[in-house]
Amino acid sequence: MIPDDVIRERVERLRQVVRYHSYRYHVLDDPEISDAEYDALMVELKELEAAHPELVTPDSPTQRVGAEPLPEFEKVQHRRPLLSLDNAFDGEEVRAWEKRVLRLLGNGAGVNYTVEPKIDGLAVSLRYENGLLVQGATRGNGFVGEDVTQNLRTIIAIPLRIPVVGDESPPRYLEARGEVYMPRDRFDQMNQRREAEEKRPFANPRNAAAGSVRQLDPSITATRPLSVFMYAVGEVEGASLATQCDALSFLRRMGFPTAANIARCDTLDEVLDLYGQWMAQRDDLNYDADGVVIKVDSLEQQDLLGEVSHAPRWAIAFKFPAHEGITRLVRIGVNVGRTGSLNPYAELEPMVVGGVTIRHATLHNEADIHRKDIREGDTVIVKRAGDVIPQVVAPLTELRSGQEEVFEMMKTCPACGEQVVKPEDEVMYYCINASCPAQLVGRVGHFASRGAMDIEGFGERLAQAFVENGLLVDVVDFYYLRRDDLLSLEGFADQSADNLLAAIEASKNRPLWRLITGLGIRGVGGVVAQLLTRHFASMDELMGASQEGLEEIEGLGPHTAQSVVDFFSQGRNRRLIEKLRRADVRMTRLAEEEAREEGPLTGQTFVITGTLPTMSQEVAAEYIEAQGGRVTSSVSRNTSYLLSGERPGGAKVERAKELGVPIIGEDDLRRLVDGA
Ligand code: IVH
Repeated sequence: MIPDDVIRERVERLRQVVRYHSYRYHVLDDPEISDAEYDALMVELKELEAAHPELVTPDSPTQRVGAEPLPEFEKVQHRRPLLSLDNAFDGEEVRAWEKRVLRLLGNGAGVNYTVEPKIDGLAVSLRYENGLLVQGATRGNGFVGEDVTQNLRTIIAIPLRIPVVGDESPPRYLEARGEVYMPRDRFDQMNQRREAEEKRPFANPRNAAAGSVRQLDPSITATRPLSVFMYAVGEVEGASLATQCDALSFLRRMGFPTAANIARCDTLDEVLDLYGQWMAQRDDLNYDADGVVIKVDSLEQQDLLGEVSHAPRWAIAFKFPAHEGITRLVRIGVNVGRTGSLNPYAELEPMVVGGVTIRHATLHNEADIHRKDIREGDTVIVKRAGDVIPQVVAPLTELRSGQEEVFEMMKTCPACGEQVVKPEDEVMYYCINASCPAQLVGRVGHFASRGAMDIEGFGERLAQAFVENGLLVDVVDFYYLRRDDLLSLEGFADQSADNLLAAIEASKNRPLWRLITGLGIRGVGGVVAQLLTRHFASMDELMGASQEGLEEIEGLGPHTAQSVVDFFSQGRNRRLIEKLRRADVRMTRLAEEEAREEGPLTGQTFVITGTLPTMSQEVAAEYIEAQGGRVTSSVSRNTSYLLSGERPGGAKVERAKELGVPIIGEDDLRRLVDGA
């Protein structure tokens, strides 16, 4: 037996927490937990109270529905209460609900159902008199809401006047009900903007919608991308409706948006089938839906069924598995990515969300952690949607004990111990040690790739195998491989080993720009490397270059210059170059790298961005230079053309437009050369 005082304490604690979250949700419009989590707390409280009725108090959150409206808004008495819905979490519960419906309606009654998405937004009631919007209110506690007419008037999707369609005139009186929501794409855009302005992002579209409607200043609401789906007719004079389907098509004729794909079903099996379909496409919708609402279609049957306390018997919400959960963030760890980025992640106390156990979640970067004020030891909301990696959304700051620790990114790489750098204008920290073990596979793969040293037959898969077998400890070990080493690996025979060794040998004499590209210096791809070899005859010259010297090179930005200097300032990277030299890898440029061809593009300067249809950026650069043109890495007044492919860099395109630099495609380039 659990002692009474322990239960009493638990009940009191639950009440406190439920009250707190109910206040966040209903009054502040800034909930910190999902509906599912709130429901779970409420269920536990109800169960404890049911088992210990002597503990029930009149002010327990179980004893009323909803919370008080904000005092600042005028109050609106709803003519008919806005009910809430009972929830079902599995098919069994839905079948039990149907059973009760059929029992209450009496044997032999035919029942149809509508299946609608349960939109996760803010419920509103709109009153129209002779077609004119006269009042808009929130649900509030179901009986009394807040007058938010001025705010709702700013939502374009809400008609201010019901249009006259054909010979159907608007009803004398109409109360329409629906859900204000923020479309997901617009929500993402808005949050990006807020982040750029260093404002705290909204946790989810529901918060954003609710917070926007309940602004005391309607001009703020007007700037928020809100929309609405209507799902019910409350009261109507001057129209007769027999079914929920009628009501929805009536609403559509009256100019209101309703959710697409609402279906009528004859059997519960069809209903359950539709639930599956909605769930499958849930992540593809442009609005958040946390389940479907199943309604008895006939309004007469709805009346017969009536309601119990706060919820109708004629409808039920069949919830989707949760996308969010709450747990403790034990520690913030840092992974080194293949490109050297230091990626923070959350180590979580394991928890189950939507049937999956989650132990880790991403945290993006240090700035994001600080903006969201996430600390080690915090209780946090974790979101997991579809196949997306779980994310820490926000901390529950009121649960802090004071022991939580503010995170600070380490100054040395957790994998190799070298100093890390944080380029200006970037949010990520990077380890720039070319021999860092965490990056080795990626770096070796890049070194050997077609855009760099072009070692035939050597892709990332082999790089992985070599690193795993301890044959490569840095990028350069490559040139110290022996035949026996290769033969010791599974899949290598005499012939394939010889081929690879020959390919490695051949790579020693590549143009200098390829070697520079292969080093994987941040910001230095093939095009920039070619630019560098125009100015530096050898690796030694490049290594000796100063920041100022590099910045003088036209077309090379200061960030790239800094990145080159940083790279060669690391002792490890300089030792790597020595090791390359000892292996007889070419360290000076070829004659053709220096000489500039005369040709149809002489005097023209190009910048390349995006993926071109047939050429890689490096090939395009070589092509342009072979025709006498120049390629630089940033758009300036001196740029003649921006050569752009798919997924171009936004900043380059913007700058080109700003300066009036023509933007051309690969075809145009060929025409310039052919003179066509
Ligand atoms: S019907 C009396 N239909 O869910 C029936 N409600 O948990 C209640 N909701 O307050 C309204 N989508 O804000 C209905 N298609 C839909 C809905 C929906 C979302 C919301 C509504 C309500 C809450 C109940």
